[in-house]
Amino acid sequence: MSGVFIAGSGMYVPSNIVTNDDMSKIVETSDEWISQRTGIRERRFSQGESNYFMGSVAARQAMDAAEVTGKEIDMIIATTCTPDYFYPNLACIVQGEIGAGNAFCWDLNAACTGFIYALDVAQHYLAMGKKNVLIVSSEVMSKQLDFTDRSTCVLFGDGAGAVVIKASDGMYASYLKSDGGNAKSLVSRALKTQGMFATDKDNPKYNKYEENSGHFIKMDGKDVYRFAVKAMTEAIGGACKNAEIDVSQLDLIIPHQANLRIIEAAAKRGGVSMDKIYANVSKYGNMSSACIPICLSELQEAGRLKRGDKLGLVGFGAGLTYGAAVLEW
Ligand code: ACO
Repeated sequence: MSGVFIAGSGMYVPSNIVTNDDMSKIVETSDEWISQRTGIRERRFSQGESNYFMGSVAARQAMDAAEVTGKEIDMIIATTCTPDYFYPNLACIVQGEIGAGNAFCWDLNAACTGFIYALDVAQHYLAMGKKNVLIVSSEVMSKQLDFTDRSTCVLFGDGAGAVVIKASDGMYASYLKSDGGNAKSLVSRALKTQGMFATDKDNPKYNKYEENSGHFIKMDGKDVYRFAVKAMTEAIGGACKNAEIDVSQLDLIIPHQANLRIIEAAAKRGGVSMDKIYANVSKYGNMSSACIPICLSELQEAGRLKRGDKLGLVGFGAGLTYGAAVLEW
Protein backbone atom coordinates (compact mmCIF):
# COMPACT_ATOMS: atom_id res chain seq x y z
CA MET A 1 0.00 0.00 0.00
CA SER A 2 1.56 3.28 -0.98
CA GLY A 3 -1.32 5.72 -0.46
CA VAL A 4 -1.96 7.73 2.68
CA PHE A 5 -5.19 8.08 4.58
CA ILE A 6 -5.75 11.03 6.90
CA ALA A 7 -7.50 9.23 9.74
CA GLY A 8 -8.02 12.32 11.90
CA SER A 9 -7.11 15.98 12.13
CA GLY A 10 -7.07 18.66 14.81
CA MET A 11 -6.20 22.32 15.33
CA TYR A 12 -5.58 25.04 17.89
CA VAL A 13 -5.62 28.78 17.38
CA PRO A 14 -5.18 31.31 20.20
CA SER A 15 -8.41 33.00 21.28
CA ASN A 16 -6.78 36.42 20.94
CA ILE A 17 -8.18 37.91 17.68
CA VAL A 18 -6.25 40.86 16.26
CA THR A 19 -8.08 42.71 13.49
CA ASN A 20 -6.61 44.89 10.77
CA ASP A 21 -7.94 47.89 12.67
CA ASP A 22 -6.00 46.68 15.73
CA MET A 23 -2.84 46.46 13.56
CA SER A 24 -3.42 50.01 12.35
CA LYS A 25 -2.92 51.14 15.97
CA ILE A 26 0.55 49.56 15.96
CA VAL A 27 1.89 50.48 12.49
CA GLU A 28 0.81 52.91 9.79
CA THR A 29 -1.59 50.72 7.85
CA SER A 30 -5.32 50.28 7.25
CA ASP A 31 -7.93 47.56 6.95
CA GLU A 32 -8.38 48.64 3.32
CA TRP A 33 -4.67 48.21 2.42
CA ILE A 34 -4.28 44.85 4.16
CA SER A 35 -7.53 43.30 2.94
CA GLN A 36 -7.11 44.49 -0.65
CA ARG A 37 -3.45 43.40 -0.97
CA THR A 38 -3.69 40.16 0.99
CA GLY A 39 -7.30 39.12 1.74
CA ILE A 40 -6.39 39.05 5.47
CA ARG A 41 -8.96 40.59 7.84
CA GLU A 42 -7.75 39.26 11.18
CA ARG A 43 -5.20 36.91 12.71
CA ARG A 44 -4.63 35.21 16.08
CA PHE A 45 -1.63 36.11 18.23
CA SER A 46 -0.45 33.97 21.13
CA GLN A 47 -0.98 35.54 24.53
CA GLY A 48 1.68 33.30 25.97
CA GLU A 49 0.68 29.94 24.51
CA SER A 50 3.89 28.14 23.62
CA ASN A 51 4.45 26.33 20.36
CA TYR A 52 4.38 22.90 22.05
CA PHE A 53 1.18 23.72 23.97
CA MET A 54 -0.67 24.60 20.76
CA GLY A 55 0.77 21.58 18.93
CA SER A 56 -0.18 19.19 21.74
CA VAL A 57 -3.81 20.37 21.78
CA ALA A 58 -4.04 19.90 18.01
CA ALA A 59 -2.36 16.48 18.29
CA ARG A 60 -4.81 15.23 20.94
CA GLN A 61 -7.75 16.31 18.77
CA ALA A 62 -6.30 14.53 15.74
CA MET A 63 -5.75 11.35 17.79
CA ASP A 64 -9.33 11.47 19.12
CA ALA A 65 -10.71 11.94 15.59
CA ALA A 66 -8.58 9.03 14.35
CA GLU A 67 -9.44 6.90 17.42
CA VAL A 68 -5.75 6.24 18.01
CA THR A 69 -4.07 6.25 21.44
CA GLY A 70 -0.68 7.78 22.15
CA LYS A 71 0.90 4.33 22.52
CA GLU A 72 -0.23 3.37 18.99
CA ILE A 73 1.76 6.18 17.34
CA ASP A 74 5.00 4.98 15.68
CA MET A 75 6.51 8.28 14.63
CA ILE A 76 5.93 11.98 15.26
CA ILE A 77 7.16 14.56 12.77
CA ALA A 78 6.80 18.12 13.95
CA THR A 79 7.12 20.94 11.44
CA THR A 80 7.99 24.38 12.73
CA CYS A 81 10.17 27.36 11.97
CA THR A 82 9.28 28.96 15.30
CA PRO A 83 10.24 26.33 17.92
CA ASP A 84 10.28 26.97 21.66
CA TYR A 85 13.78 25.46 21.97
CA PHE A 86 16.70 24.49 19.74
CA TYR A 87 16.48 21.25 21.70
CA PRO A 88 14.63 19.22 22.79
CA ASN A 89 12.83 19.18 19.48
CA LEU A 90 9.14 20.03 19.30
CA ALA A 91 8.15 16.47 18.38
CA CYS A 92 9.75 15.05 21.56
CA ILE A 93 8.01 17.62 23.75
CA VAL A 94 4.64 16.79 22.14
CA GLN A 95 5.43 13.09 22.62
CA GLY A 96 5.78 13.68 26.34
CA GLU A 97 2.55 15.67 26.47
CA ILE A 98 0.43 13.07 24.67
CA GLY A 99 2.02 9.88 26.06
CA ALA A 100 3.24 8.51 22.73
CA GLY A 101 6.01 6.45 24.34
CA ASN A 102 6.47 4.09 21.38
CA ALA A 103 7.17 6.78 18.82
CA PHE A 104 10.44 8.20 17.54
CA CYS A 105 10.25 11.93 17.16
CA TRP A 106 11.93 14.57 15.10
CA ASP A 107 11.43 18.05 13.64
CA LEU A 108 11.46 19.07 10.02
CA ASN A 109 11.95 22.67 8.95
CA ALA A 110 10.91 23.52 5.42
CA ALA A 111 9.21 26.75 6.59
CA CYS A 112 5.72 27.08 5.14
CA THR A 113 6.13 23.95 2.97
CA GLY A 114 6.89 21.89 6.10
CA PHE A 115 3.58 20.03 6.27
CA ILE A 116 3.81 18.85 2.67
CA TYR A 117 7.42 17.69 3.08
CA ALA A 118 6.41 15.88 6.31
CA LEU A 119 3.45 14.22 4.63
CA ASP A 120 5.75 12.87 1.95
CA VAL A 121 8.27 11.54 4.48
CA ALA A 122 5.40 9.94 6.43
CA GLN A 123 4.11 8.30 3.26
CA HIS A 124 7.50 6.63 2.74
CA TYR A 125 7.58 5.29 6.33
CA LEU A 126 3.98 4.06 6.06
CA ALA A 127 4.78 2.28 2.80
CA MET A 128 7.59 0.51 4.70
CA GLY A 129 5.25 -0.74 7.43
CA LYS A 130 4.69 1.95 10.07
CA LYS A 131 1.05 2.02 11.18
CA ASN A 132 0.27 5.46 12.62
CA VAL A 133 2.24 8.63 11.98
CA LEU A 134 1.40 11.89 13.71
CA ILE A 135 2.33 15.16 11.99
CA VAL A 136 2.16 18.25 14.18
CA SER A 137 2.63 21.64 12.53
CA SER A 138 2.78 24.44 15.06
CA GLU A 139 3.88 28.04 14.59
CA VAL A 140 4.11 31.09 16.82
CA MET A 141 4.95 33.48 13.98
CA SER A 142 4.32 36.52 16.21
CA LYS A 143 7.68 35.82 17.94
CA GLN A 144 9.45 36.63 14.69
CA LEU A 145 7.50 39.74 13.74
CA ASP A 146 9.04 43.18 13.72
CA PHE A 147 6.08 45.29 14.85
CA THR A 148 7.72 48.36 13.35
CA ASP A 149 7.80 46.83 9.84
CA ARG A 150 4.33 47.21 8.32
CA SER A 151 5.28 45.27 5.20
CA THR A 152 5.61 42.01 7.17
CA CYS A 153 3.92 42.25 10.58
CA VAL A 154 0.39 42.41 9.13
CA LEU A 155 0.79 39.17 7.17
CA PHE A 156 1.26 36.48 9.82
CA GLY A 157 -0.61 34.74 12.64
CA ASP A 158 -0.19 31.91 15.16
CA GLY A 159 -1.77 28.44 15.15
CA ALA A 160 -1.24 24.68 15.10
CA GLY A 161 -2.67 21.81 13.07
CA ALA A 162 -2.13 18.06 13.34
CA VAL A 163 -3.07 14.89 11.48
CA VAL A 164 -2.81 11.15 12.15
CA ILE A 165 -1.96 9.30 8.95
CA LYS A 166 -2.21 5.63 8.05
CA ALA A 167 -1.34 3.69 4.91
CA SER A 168 -4.04 3.14 2.30
CA ASP A 169 -4.36 1.70 -1.18
CA GLY A 170 -5.66 5.05 -2.51
CA MET A 171 -3.93 7.46 -4.86
CA TYR A 172 -0.85 9.35 -3.67
CA ALA A 173 1.77 11.34 -5.54
CA SER A 174 3.96 14.32 -4.73
CA TYR A 175 6.23 16.90 -6.31
CA LEU A 176 8.77 18.51 -3.98
CA LYS A 177 11.41 21.08 -4.87
CA SER A 178 13.72 23.67 -3.32
CA ASP A 179 15.46 26.76 -4.67
CA GLY A 180 18.28 27.55 -2.24
CA GLY A 181 19.85 29.95 -4.73
CA ASN A 182 17.13 32.41 -3.78
CA ALA A 183 17.26 31.75 -0.03
CA LYS A 184 17.91 35.41 0.67
CA SER A 185 14.37 36.45 -0.33
CA LEU A 186 12.95 35.34 3.01
CA VAL A 187 15.14 35.11 6.10
CA SER A 188 14.86 34.95 9.88
CA ARG A 189 18.27 34.56 11.51
CA ALA A 190 19.17 32.34 14.47
CA LEU A 191 22.02 32.97 16.92
CA LYS A 192 25.08 34.89 15.83
CA THR A 193 28.63 33.70 16.43
CA GLN A 194 29.68 34.95 19.89
CA GLY A 195 31.91 38.01 20.04
CA MET A 196 34.42 36.32 22.37
CA PHE A 197 36.04 34.23 19.63
CA ALA A 198 34.82 36.08 16.57
CA THR A 199 37.18 38.70 15.24
CA ASP A 200 35.55 38.89 11.83
CA LYS A 201 31.92 38.01 12.50
CA ASP A 202 30.38 40.66 10.24
CA ASN A 203 32.48 39.71 7.23
CA PRO A 204 29.96 39.05 4.43
CA LYS A 205 32.27 36.28 3.17
CA TYR A 206 31.07 34.22 6.13
CA ASN A 207 27.42 35.14 6.09
CA LYS A 208 25.86 36.50 2.99
CA TYR A 209 22.38 36.00 4.43
CA GLU A 210 22.97 38.45 7.25
CA GLU A 211 20.27 41.08 7.07
CA ASN A 212 21.05 42.72 10.39
CA SER A 213 17.46 41.99 11.32
CA GLY A 214 17.77 40.37 14.73
CA HIS A 215 15.63 37.25 14.47
CA PHE A 216 12.78 39.08 12.72
CA ILE A 217 11.37 38.04 9.37
CA LYS A 218 12.98 39.89 6.49
CA MET A 219 11.27 39.41 3.18
CA ASP A 220 11.43 40.73 -0.33
CA GLY A 221 7.65 40.67 -0.80
CA LYS A 222 7.67 41.15 -4.56
CA ASP A 223 10.24 38.38 -5.15
CA VAL A 224 8.30 35.98 -2.92
CA TYR A 225 5.04 36.89 -4.66
CA ARG A 226 6.43 36.11 -8.13
CA PHE A 227 8.09 32.91 -6.91
CA ALA A 228 4.93 31.74 -5.11
CA VAL A 229 2.59 32.05 -8.10
CA LYS A 230 4.95 30.15 -10.37
CA ALA A 231 5.93 27.55 -7.75
CA MET A 232 2.36 26.66 -6.76
CA THR A 233 1.28 26.17 -10.38
CA GLU A 234 4.36 24.07 -11.16
CA ALA A 235 4.00 21.94 -8.02
CA ILE A 236 0.31 21.07 -8.30
CA GLY A 237 0.75 20.35 -12.01
CA GLY A 238 3.77 18.15 -11.24
CA ALA A 239 2.03 16.18 -8.50
CA CYS A 240 -1.02 15.56 -10.71
CA LYS A 241 1.24 14.45 -13.56
CA ASN A 242 2.98 12.01 -11.20
CA ALA A 243 -0.45 10.70 -10.12
CA GLU A 244 -1.47 10.42 -13.81
CA ILE A 245 -4.50 12.64 -13.34
CA ASP A 246 -5.43 16.04 -14.67
CA VAL A 247 -5.61 19.00 -12.26
CA SER A 248 -9.31 19.28 -13.22
CA GLN A 249 -9.92 15.86 -11.60
CA LEU A 250 -9.08 17.21 -8.14
CA ASP A 251 -12.18 17.81 -6.01
CA LEU A 252 -10.48 20.41 -3.81
CA ILE A 253 -7.14 22.20 -3.66
CA ILE A 254 -5.84 23.37 -0.29
CA PRO A 255 -3.04 25.89 -0.82
CA HIS A 256 -0.66 27.46 1.68
CA GLN A 257 -2.49 30.51 3.03
CA ALA A 258 -0.05 33.39 2.60
CA ASN A 259 -2.06 35.83 0.57
CA LEU A 260 -5.39 35.54 -1.27
CA ARG A 261 -3.96 37.42 -4.27
CA ILE A 262 -1.21 34.80 -4.64
CA ILE A 263 -3.81 32.02 -4.44
CA GLU A 264 -6.04 33.72 -7.03
CA ALA A 265 -3.12 34.45 -9.38
CA ALA A 266 -1.88 30.83 -9.15
CA ALA A 267 -5.41 29.53 -9.77
CA LYS A 268 -5.73 31.74 -12.85
CA ARG A 269 -2.33 30.68 -14.16
CA GLY A 270 -3.21 27.00 -13.64
CA GLY A 271 -6.72 27.35 -15.12
CA VAL A 272 -8.39 26.30 -11.84
CA SER A 273 -11.70 27.79 -10.71
CA MET A 274 -11.66 29.43 -7.25
CA ASP A 275 -14.69 27.20 -6.38
CA LYS A 276 -12.22 24.33 -6.14
CA ILE A 277 -9.90 26.13 -3.73
CA TYR A 278 -10.22 26.35 0.04
CA ALA A 279 -9.07 29.57 1.67
CA ASN A 280 -9.24 30.73 5.29
CA VAL A 281 -6.46 33.33 5.13
CA SER A 282 -8.99 36.09 5.93
CA LYS A 283 -9.42 34.68 9.48
CA TYR A 284 -5.89 33.66 10.38
CA GLY A 285 -3.26 35.23 8.08
CA ASN A 286 -0.16 33.20 7.29
CA MET A 287 0.54 30.58 9.98
CA SER A 288 3.42 29.05 7.97
CA SER A 289 3.43 25.23 8.06
CA ALA A 290 0.28 25.11 10.23
CA CYS A 291 -1.95 26.53 7.48
CA ILE A 292 -2.66 23.36 5.51
CA PRO A 293 -3.41 21.01 8.45
CA ILE A 294 -5.65 23.71 9.97
CA CYS A 295 -7.56 23.86 6.67
CA LEU A 296 -7.89 20.06 6.75
CA SER A 297 -9.17 20.17 10.30
CA GLU A 298 -11.73 22.88 9.51
CA LEU A 299 -12.93 20.96 6.45
CA GLN A 300 -13.22 17.72 8.42
CA GLU A 301 -15.08 19.44 11.26
CA ALA A 302 -17.50 21.04 8.78
CA GLY A 303 -18.13 17.66 7.11
CA ARG A 304 -17.05 19.08 3.76
CA LEU A 305 -14.86 16.14 2.75
CA LYS A 306 -16.09 12.67 1.75
CA ARG A 307 -13.93 9.60 1.71
CA GLY A 308 -12.47 9.19 -1.78
CA ASP A 309 -12.40 12.93 -2.58
CA LYS A 310 -9.23 13.78 -4.50
CA LEU A 311 -7.33 16.54 -2.68
CA GLY A 312 -4.40 18.63 -3.83
CA LEU A 313 -2.21 20.20 -1.12
CA VAL A 314 0.26 22.82 -2.32
CA GLY A 315 2.68 25.14 -0.59
CA PHE A 316 5.74 27.38 -0.81
CA GLY A 317 7.94 29.04 1.73
CA ALA A 318 11.34 30.16 2.92
CA GLY A 319 14.28 28.17 1.67
CA LEU A 320 12.94 28.69 -0.86
CA THR A 321 10.92 25.48 -0.70
CA TYR A 322 7.82 24.41 -2.55
CA GLY A 323 5.81 21.31 -3.24
CA ALA A 324 2.48 19.59 -3.62
CA ALA A 325 0.86 16.28 -2.77
CA VAL A 326 -2.29 14.72 -4.17
CA LEU A 327 -4.17 12.10 -2.19
CA GLU A 328 -7.59 10.63 -1.55
CA TRP A 329 -9.41 11.76 1.60
N1 ACO B 1 0.06 49.13 5.04
C1 ACO B 1 0.09 50.20 4.22
N2 ACO B 1 1.04 50.36 3.29
C2 ACO B 1 1.96 49.40 3.18
C3 ACO B 1 1.97 48.26 4.00
C4 ACO B 1 0.97 48.15 4.97
N3 ACO B 1 0.87 47.12 5.82
N4 ACO B 1 3.01 47.49 3.66
C5 ACO B 1 3.64 48.10 2.64
N5 ACO B 1 3.01 49.26 2.36
C6 ACO B 1 3.33 50.25 1.34
C7 ACO B 1 4.78 50.19 0.91
O1 ACO B 1 5.59 50.94 1.80
C8 ACO B 1 4.71 50.80 -0.45
O2 ACO B 1 4.66 52.19 -0.32
P1 ACO B 1 5.49 53.12 -1.33
O3 ACO B 1 4.94 52.83 -2.69
O4 ACO B 1 5.21 54.49 -0.84
O5 ACO B 1 6.93 52.69 -1.18
C9 ACO B 1 3.35 50.37 -0.98
O6 ACO B 1 2.60 49.96 0.17
C10 ACO B 1 3.43 49.21 -1.95
O7 ACO B 1 4.22 48.21 -1.37
P2 ACO B 1 4.54 46.91 -2.14
O8 ACO B 1 5.53 46.11 -1.39
O9 ACO B 1 4.83 47.24 -3.59
O10 ACO B 1 3.11 46.19 -2.10
P3 ACO B 1 2.67 44.89 -2.82
O11 ACO B 1 1.51 45.19 -3.67
O12 ACO B 1 3.83 44.17 -3.43
O13 ACO B 1 2.16 44.02 -1.62
C11 ACO B 1 2.80 42.21 -0.17
C12 ACO B 1 3.05 43.67 -0.56
C13 ACO B 1 1.40 42.04 0.32
C14 ACO B 1 3.78 41.86 0.93
C15 ACO B 1 3.05 41.34 -1.42
O14 ACO B 1 4.27 41.65 -2.03
C16 ACO B 1 3.04 39.89 -1.09
O15 ACO B 1 2.02 39.33 -0.75
N6 ACO B 1 4.20 39.22 -1.22
C17 ACO B 1 4.30 37.84 -0.85
C18 ACO B 1 4.42 37.77 0.61
C19 ACO B 1 4.18 36.37 1.10
O16 ACO B 1 3.35 35.66 0.63
N7 ACO B 1 4.96 36.03 2.03
C20 ACO B 1 4.75 34.76 2.60
C21 ACO B 1 5.99 34.19 2.65
S1 ACO B 1 6.29 33.68 4.19
C22 ACO B 1 6.06 32.12 4.02
O17 ACO B 1 5.03 31.73 3.62
C23 ACO B 1 7.21 31.35 4.48
